[in-house]
Amino acid sequence: MSLVDRIEEAVAAVRVQTSAVPRVALILGSGLGGLVRGIEVQASFDYCDLPHFKTSGVRGHVGRLVFGQLAGQEVVCMQGRLHPYEGYTPEEIAFPLRVMQALGAETLIITNAAGGINLDFKVGEKMLITDHINFTGGNPLTFSEDQGAPVFVDMSYAYTPALRSLALSAAEKTGIVLKEGIYLGLRGPSFETPAEIRAFRSWGADAVGMSTVHEVIAAAALGMQILGLSLITNMAAGVLDQPLTGEEVFATARLAASDMEVLVTEILLSFARSEG
Ligand code: HPA
Repeated sequence: MSLVDRIEEAVAAVRVQTSAVPRVALILGSGLGGLVRGIEVQASFDYCDLPHFKTSGVRGHVGRLVFGQLAGQEVVCMQGRLHPYEGYTPEEIAFPLRVMQALGAETLIITNAAGGINLDFKVGEKMLITDHINFTGGNPLTFSEDQGAPVFVDMSYAYTPALRSLALSAAEKTGIVLKEGIYLGLRGPSFETPAEIRAFRSWGADAVGMSTVHEVIAAAALGMQILGLSLITNMAAGVLDQPLTGEEVFATARLAASDMEVLVTEILLSFARSEG
């Protein structure tokens, strides 16, 4: 079945239960799904109940597509996402994003947990993604010819400049420190070696993680406006003289998640105002 048909089937399954037309799609990273609690839910679907959706098996990740109102916006939220390290292809990872876009979302707000490469960063700080380096070795547009969309997509302004300024103003307003930087996406699941992190620093990467780049590439291809935010859950390998653990990542994400929720909520409010 073609990609277009699979998207149509998933959209039809959603439409059986809701006529919601979300304007903003939210993809929430590890431990950051709590924002969903603020949503006035109109409808929600477990991924396993939607055709062609894959489910994530990672601890701390639920798999649910939630529709409703958040901070005055009609949103659709992916609570839990798929990762390349679970064996999913870039195309599978980007599929739910394509469905959210087909349902009406023109803007993507995407968050993740990341390791800090930039030595000026501190654990718990938030980073506005200004650009990314896709070092996963894969690309979600590889198989999208059947969608009839161009695959040689310009990525020069993928992280929408106007949304970036809006996020910086929202951070200032809420008093939340928002650093800016380049996100490097890897397949994982092993953490990086200290030598890799030194190499990535010389490339200009500020934070490293195992998500986001595929959804962003697909969203750019669909002409969506994109805002990306990283929570620095740990300093990357070799920065501190201590080993990295997945536990640390989840623990910091839980601790610092509320700040991220405040920030995203304020961004949505300013976005609603700017759209009038
Ligand atoms: N490396 C890769 N992915 C991550 C990290 C890290 O240090 N922290 C959170 N996600």
